[in-house]
Parts: sequence; structure tokens; C-alpha cells
Amino acid sequence: MSKIRFQSLTGMHDILPEDQVYFKKLQKAVEAIVDYYGYEKIETPILELTEVFSKAVGQNTDIVEKQMYTFRTKGGDLVSLRPEGTAAIMRSYIEHGMPNLPQPVKLWYLGPFFRYERPQAGRFRQFHQFGFEALGEQNPSIDGQIIQMSYDVLKGLGFKNIKIEVNSIGDSECRPYFKKILASYFRSRRASLCSDCQRRLKDNPLRILDCKEEKCQRVKAGAPQIIDHLCENCHAHFKQVLEFLDELELPYTLNPYLVRGLDYYTKTVFEIVENSETGQAQGALLGGGRYDNLAKTLGGRDTPACGAAGGVERIISLIKAKETKTLPKQEPKIFLAQLGQLAKRKSMKLFEEFRAAKIPVAESFSKDSLKTQLRTANKMGIRWVLIFGQKEALEDFITLRDMDTGTQKEIKLDKVVKEMKTKIKK
Ligand code: HAM
Repeated sequence: MSKIRFQSLTGMHDILPEDQVYFKKLQKAVEAIVDYYGYEKIETPILELTEVFSKAVGQNTDIVEKQMYTFRTKGGDLVSLRPEGTAAIMRSYIEHGMPNLPQPVKLWYLGPFFRYERPQAGRFRQFHQFGFEALGEQNPSIDGQIIQMSYDVLKGLGFKNIKIEVNSIGDSECRPYFKKILASYFRSRRASLCSDCQRRLKDNPLRILDCKEEKCQRVKAGAPQIIDHLCENCHAHFKQVLEFLDELELPYTLNPYLVRGLDYYTKTVFEIVENSETGQAQGALLGGGRYDNLAKTLGGRDTPACGAAGGVERIISLIKAKETKTLPKQEPKIFLAQLGQLAKRKSMKLFEEFRAAKIPVAESFSKDSLKTQLRTANKMGIRWVLIFGQKEALEDFITLRDMDTGTQKEIKLDKVVKEMKTKIKK
């Protein structure tokens, strides 16, 4: 066999027909929640000025430093494929005067995102996210609502064993002070940190808390916790968020070391992970938090906001791994075979009648040989074969063959959909 010449790029995948059913199901689950909570759909372009992301997500983050697909256009603009959705949504909110609308403005999205990551389980270079953002509201009830919606989407998809991890990372009042305390703790243990974290010590010591290296995890275990150093305002806000979560009976745990990999967060941050039943380790299914300073960073007015985004491929791979019975695939129980041009045309019309009646029917309209079509039906394990031959087409009837018994009978064309409906119900 000759070698395949072209393949999709590393970390980028075709979404084949057999996967579309999962994407559809996920979209339906998201839509059920966003519609109920009054979020409206927004789509931003795949490309933005690089600055939108470098300013919002942070110059020293892995996403901006290592993972963006960035290039200069023929016109000279420096642009990037979007690595996440929040920055562009805030850009759009400011650009379109949405601060003048009744607040909060509630938006949701679903689409492809790009990060030049090292491909591994649950980590791709092109992946999809769904997300919701509530802009223009500082009340902690919004944080509670975003967490509840995130949890509901996953519940709606049949996840039973999921856990919400929450933390507060403070704001511009308390975080700088905490960063100093943290830096001093890590500085005295510098030699025990990985080389990346030794660098982070200078740029952003908070990020060390996020490092997955085992040696850093060990040092992290004794690190000071931001929760003990929040200012009054952040402390009160976080307390109220937790009270909402308690009231909503959401299964959360406090993770004092959760910091997330994007710089725009203030106060609440959270992630939803699966308590692995499947043994698949692939990171959080969904993550989010509050980002009260982002609007100002992008040149807008002070706009408190909160949101979250879920990783479509990660969620789907877990659904598949568990082989949940939530996807009853409609296997056709009827095969429509045809012989001759007139019969082929009439079969296509009949096929449409079955579709309108929501009865799945298999066919091989591109095949002319009856023998081939019967063989296909047999391979698919289909019991009922409707045969539309020349005689049938001229006299408006159809022959029904029971593949189990080999018996045949004739049915009038205008009765066939109704009769087959009762047959497949039995
Ligand atoms: P994030 O944590 O970077 O947050 O991404 C959200 C989710 O996207 C992750 O939990 C994960 O499921 C999925 N994801 C991220 N990177 C990849 C990848 N390379 N391959 C597959 N899945 C991936 C954000 O993007 C924020 N914008 C979330 C947010 C919205 N915060 C506030 N509003």
C-alpha cells in the first residue's frame, strides 16, 4: 500500500461523522442551560491583534509566551489565532458600547481555539471550548451562577463524579503583598524548584503554585495560602460566593493553591475536574473565574465580570470512555433497496417520507445491483428490506422481504410508511 502523503497537523484533528453526534449532544446540553439563564450567543473572529491576548492573558503566561500561533499579515499587523475566548469578548463588549446596555451583559460561545501545546491526552493544538461570560456585575451571586451553570452542563451530559475546586486569588489590593510573602517562601527553597519555576520566581511567583512538576509540588505543600492574606473586600466577596455554593448544594472543595494560568483573574477562580473513574488523566474539564480588571487593561471602563469555559474534546473523550448509555444511536431497522431508474427516483421520494416520519432507513442509492444491496442489508443486520423494482415502480406497490424468514409480501405504496412503523415497534 502506498504511504499516505498528507495528514492533519500534529495536535489538530478531523471531527469525523461518527464524532458529530457527541458534538451535537454537547451543544444541546450547553444550549439548554444558557437559554434558561438568559445568555445570548456571541461569535468573535478566530484572529485578533496579538496585543488583545498579550495584554489580557498576560505577557509572562505560558499561553502568550509559548503557545500562540502568531504571524504578521501582509498589511503588517501582528495577529494571533485565539487561544481563549474571554479577551476577545471583552474587546467586543467595549468596542460595541455594551457597557451602555443593562448590566450584566450575559454572553456565551462555542468554537475552535488554538494553542501550540505539546500534544498529549486532553491537550490539542486545535480544540473547542464552550463558555459563558457575565460582564458588568460584581455581585458574588454571579460567581455562584457561573459555577452552577458549569456544573449543570456537565450533569446534563451524564457526569456523576465531578468535583468543583474553588479559590480566591485576591485583587490588586491584597495580591501584591501576598506575592511578596510567597516569593520570599520560594526564594529560600529556590534550589528545590524546577528551572521554569526558578524563572517564575522573578516574574510571577503565584504561577509556581500551578506547576505540575513533582519537585515543585513538594515545595508547594508548605507554601503560605492566599486565603489567609485576602483584603477585607476580597474576603467578604469570597465568603458570599461560598455561601451561594452551599445554598445551591454544589459539591465543592477549597483548593488554596488553585491559581489558573491566565493573568486576568481577580477574586474567585474555579475548576471542575472528574474524580477519575476511567483512569484518564487529562486536566480540568472546565475552568473560570472573576476578572474585574480586564476591561480596564483593554482600555475600557471599570467592568467587573465573571465567566468560565469548558473543553469540548476533554468532555467528549470522557463520555466516550464511559460509553454512557445516554446516546441511543438510532440504528435503522429498515433497508430500502431499488432496481432501475424510475424505482430509484421513487425510492428517494419514499426515503424522504420515512425521514419526515422520523423512521431511520438505510439505503444504497448509488448501487444498481439488487444482490449488492441485499448483501449490504445483511451485513448491517437489518431484518426488513423494502424492494422497489421496475414492476413495483410502475404499479405503485413495494415488496417487503423479511430477511430472517426469507418470506416476502407486497404493500401498497401509500400504506408503506404506516405499516413499517407498526412493524418496527413490535
Ligand atoms: P482555560 O482553563 O485555559 O480557561 O481553558 C478552559 C478549558 O479549555 C480547560 O479546562 C480545558 O478543558 C480546555 N482546554 C484548554 N486548553 C486545551 C487544549 N490545549 N486542548 C484541549 N482542551 C483544552 C480559559 O480559556 C478561560 N478563557 C476560561 C474563562 C472564561 N475564564 C473566564 N471566562
